[in-house]
Amino acid sequence: MLLLLFSLVIGIIIVVGLFYLLRQLYNPPSIDFHDRHVIVTEGSNGIGKSLVKSLLIRGANVTILARNEQHLCQCESELKSISDNRLLSLSVDVSLSYENVEQSICRACEKQGPVTVLINNAGIYDAKSFDVTKPVEFEKMIRINYLSAIYCTKACRKYMYKMGYGQIVLVSSQARQLDGYTSYCSTKFALRGLAEALQMELARSNIYVTTIYPPHLDTPEFTEENKSKPVETQLISQTSSIVSTDLVAENIIKQTLKGSFACWFSINGFLLTYLTSGTSSMTTLLESIYQVTFVGLARLIAITLFRAFYSIVRNNRRQSSSTH
Ligand SMILES: *[C@@H]1O[C@H](CO)[C@@H](O)[C@H](O)[C@H]1NC(C)=O
Ligand SMILES: *[C@@H]1O[C@H](CO)[C@@H](O)[C@H](O)[C@H]1NC(C)=O
Repeated sequence: MLLLLFSLVIGIIIVVGLFYLLRQLYNPPSIDFHDRHVIVTEGSNGIGKSLVKSLLIRGANVTILARNEQHLCQCESELKSISDNRLLSLSVDVSLSYENVEQSICRACEKQGPVTVLINNAGIYDAKSFDVTKPVEFEKMIRINYLSAIYCTKACRKYMYKMGYGQIVLVSSQARQLDGYTSYCSTKFALRGLAEALQMELARSNIYVTTIYPPHLDTPEFTEENKSKPVETQLISQTSSIVSTDLVAENIIKQTLKGSFACWFSINGFLLTYLTSGTSSMTTLLESIYQVTFVGLARLIAITLFRAFYSIVRNNRRQSSSTH
């Protein structure tokens, strides 16, 4: 009887200790977007445009920073019916120089109020193998996909410090480890590294980082790109679902509101996010419990999946070299 009681007490202590250990690292406050200034880079098409639309409906003041003036004008006239005085669009190349970005963000904040949420959505992709990608193409990719996020984040943080609150969203990609996307994947992987270190540094200032890992998007660009990409990349891509930009935008908004550290889509995204959660920040107790419990099993599934990917790549290499 005494032994039973003793074991029960020890058991309770272990469970409570475990919950204490796995509790969330920081507590993002719940916010809404009403009357908040949100900046979206490359907000004139794709996910960006869906985001802007949805944010305007929620009553946010939205600024779009994008390069293509024609897209900006088109986007403005389309969204005018939702709000004409809370949408500002500025034509700027966010990957070119920090000074340019800082000036534009300063202008935006004068009109729209101090920025609370920054969504780093600017990015390009190129489905080419490492062999055929030129050094200048790698440089361009790094500037647009990675450095633009650094410039914008740096320029926004002083407003966030002043308000004592802020959120930074980085749009990475589910395709972080695919053959045929070497230049793209490595820049999207860099964003993840940035998120990890940045969150640890900014949590004390009440600023939260959310990284988005969208899968393939149902856009005209994807259909176009699909035609020219290497066969093995196409085959691997087909294992992942294709989602609409509106759906991605809704999920980004939901997860940003919650202050989640990672936002994924579909079963592949779930696996990749959980598998790479090793030393990552965690926001909820439930997430930590899932990770501690399922990572071993997820690894087993991933090894099987990767074996299949490798054999796709190997088989197609053999075919293409035998046709030469
Ligand atoms: C949002 O924009 C409106 C219209 O320009 C402005 O009146 C309001 O002050 C802005 N909000 C903030 C928080 O500055
Ligand atoms: C991509 O291309 C492959 C092969 O040409 C095709 O089977 C697939 O349906 C295409 N996917 C999309 C979304 O266009």
